Amino acid sequence: MSLSFFPITKEIYDYAVCHRSHGTDPIMLELRKATMALGDIAEMAIPPEEESFLSIIVAASKAEMAIEVGTFTGIGAMAIARALPPSGKLFCCEINPHWISIATPFWRKAGLESKIEVRIGPALDTIRSLSKESRFNFAFIDADKQNYENYYELLLPRMKENGLIIFDNMLWRGRVVNPDPSDKDSVALSRLNDKLKDDPRIESVLIPMADGIVIARKKG
Ligand SMILES: C[S@@+](CC[C@H](N)C(=O)[O-])C[C@H]1O[C@@H](n2cnc3c(N)ncnc32)[C@H](O)[C@@H]1O
Repeated sequence: MSLSFFPITKEIYDYAVCHRSHGTDPIMLELRKATMALGDIAEMAIPPEEESFLSIIVAASKAEMAIEVGTFTGIGAMAIARALPPSGKLFCCEINPHWISIATPFWRKAGLESKIEVRIGPALDTIRSLSKESRFNFAFIDADKQNYENYYELLLPRMKENGLIIFDNMLWRGRVVNPDPSDKDSVALSRLNDKLKDDPRIESVLIPMADGIVIARKKG
């Protein structure tokens, strides 16, 4: 029987986080420091191992056109944009302009500003307003949980064949398992997990990393 999981300690987690590339990216470290200075809300930011994971997946898939739904202070956006080719483009959908005002100087300092186009407003409206010709190789969904399925259904037709959609927080700290019916976020994510595993348009896997990450590949 293969070892499928083991409980990890903070020491093991720290060991894993230290053993990755990008850990010494000075501008990313500065952005993370500025994000942590915001206090409890900084919990919304993706953790370091996920940031490296996004960069590697974007680079390995040779993505050129990417979209992020929910940008916050721009850590995920920086991880995605740094892995795009010079001609690549990342559309960032964010409802709160304050978070983007924190992100922008760091993107500029990293030389990534020209690759990133921010759309302020509800992401559903932003995605619907994209031209029909916009086709993505990579999407990262990380905004309001009850709309994840709507983001998925709007983005899937706009993905190229073999395009990757990454969904964050798909374990929702475990609350997706037998969700409390009154907890709408947990119910929405739990239903989406059930839908994705049987969806013939994609192949997907739910990886128990960070708060649970689903990777879905659009089939031809
Ligand atoms: C979990 S945070 C995103 C973290 C980010 N991806 C990162 O790499 O650190 C979720 C973000 O989604 C934004 N958001 C929430 N509802 C939204 C909506 N309807 N449209 C666009 N953005 C939304 C929030 O303002 C917040 O910044």
